[in-house]
Parts: sequence; C-alpha cells; structure tokens
Amino acid sequence: MNTPNQRPIGVFDSGVGGLTNVRALMERLPLENIVYFGDTARVPYGVKSRATIETFTAQIVGFMLEHDVKALVIACNTIAAVAGHKVRQMAGNMPVLDVISAGAQAALATTRNNHIGVIATNTTVNSNAYAREIHRRNPAARVQSQACPLFVPLVEEGWLDHEVTRLTAREYLKPLLAEDVDTLVLGCTHYPLLKPLLQQEAPQLQLVDSALTTAEAVAQALQAEGLLNDGTGQTADYRFYVSDIPLRFQTIGERFLGRSLQQIEMVSLG
Ligand code: DGL
Repeated sequence: MNTPNQRPIGVFDSGVGGLTNVRALMERLPLENIVYFGDTARVPYGVKSRATIETFTAQIVGFMLEHDVKALVIACNTIAAVAGHKVRQMAGNMPVLDVISAGAQAALATTRNNHIGVIATNTTVNSNAYAREIHRRNPAARVQSQACPLFVPLVEEGWLDHEVTRLTAREYLKPLLAEDVDTLVLGCTHYPLLKPLLQQEAPQLQLVDSALTTAEAVAQALQAEGLLNDGTGQTADYRFYVSDIPLRFQTIGERFLGRSLQQIEMVSLG
C-alpha cells in the first residue's frame, strides 16, 4: 500500500514521445514512482482534430486516475494545446503540469530580443496555444510558429543525424531565421532528440527543451503541495502502458529514454 507521497506521477502522451519527459523526470526526481501511458494504437495526434483529441484525452485521464496518481503531467504538446482544460477539469485539485506552460515560461526567461520561435505539430501550431501562453505572460513578446510535421517520423526512424533530416530542418527553420527569432521552443515531444542537429543548423538560437522545464515545474509543484516522495532507500517503480502491442514502443522508446524499458503492458481504452 502506497502512502500518499509514494503514489506515482502520471505521465501521458499520444505515443512514445512523452518518454523524453519521463527521462527528464527520472533525472530530476529519482525517488518518484511513475506511471506512463502512450496511446500507440492511435498516434499521431498532431494531425487530428480538437474533438477527437479531447475524447481520447478523457479516456487516458480516466485510466490515470484509476492508478491513484498524485499529479498529472501532460507530456504531449498536442494534448496540452487543445485538451489541457479537459485534463484539469477531470483532475480536480490534483496538480496538473504541462509542457506548454513550462515551455512558454522558459522561452520568456531565455529570449533577449523578445522574439520567440515555436516549432510543433500542425494541431499545436493551428491551436495557437504557445503564442497565447507566451502573450498571457508577456504581451510585448513576438511569436513566430512553424509546423514541422516531418520531424516526428524522421525521429522515430532514428534519422537524428541524417542528410534528409538536415535538409528538412533547413527548410523549416528558414522562415523563423528570416524573422530574427533568438529563442526556439521545441514544442513537440520528439524534437529534443534533434537538438544537436538543430543547434548545428542554427547556432545563434537558444533552444528550449520543454521536457527539462516541465520536470522542474513538477518538482516545484510537488514541493509546494508537500507531495514529494522522500522515501529513502527505495528504488523508484516505473510502469508503462500502451494501447498497441509494445514491440515498437520498446525499440523506439529506449532511444527516447536513454535506458532499457521494462514493465510494459498493453491495455485498451474506450
Ligand atoms: N506527442 C506529440 C506532440 O508532442 C507528437 C506526436 C503526435 O503527433 O502524436 O505534439
């Protein structure tokens, strides 16, 4: 039986990409237990409508709540962009952290010229969620967004340092660089894996990795609520649930997580 502070943090995503957040959480909060859900049967979300994503999200949050989580982390930028309100509604008083709030805050802390670029999926860019969140915090900031739909399959293919990815990145970055942004938010779970390539293509840009900033926000929220797991001498428990057979998740996921993946179980939602 878990004490209240030993309850797991619930992290969820449309698929494998949210493991970038899990990795950052494991490093920042090594004592915390984590339950992860990746909707591998229905990924990608980045090209789907708001209504569909809201329906899927409600099912995922229902599943997370059954696991008695103490906080929720919306690791998927697309879910945070169009269904964050749904998650908060269902979560009640539980802390809910998401990549967009954390990314927007970090971008504003980083930029010198107040001109921020955001790269993300189509649905995230069309929702304008990053721009809204940045403007809510600083109305004077300028935001230039660019959808980069080809990056997700390229990263899943493992083409992290490949000529095709390099040329694709050059195309996507062109309009942002023409607008003189000095900070670039990696507004999709998959993009942190492209950091070295993006930095080579645009060395003048400061890259904001929302996985890192979200992990920091989770640490602060748990601390503020008195929910940190201080159980010393225990190893953290990590459980991974997916909605399709786990083989692909495991192979690709180990690259995202930077360590081997165990305890993966398939479940069906909805
Ligand atoms: N996890 C999604 C995001 O961060 C990318 C993959 C997808 O399109 O579902 O936006």
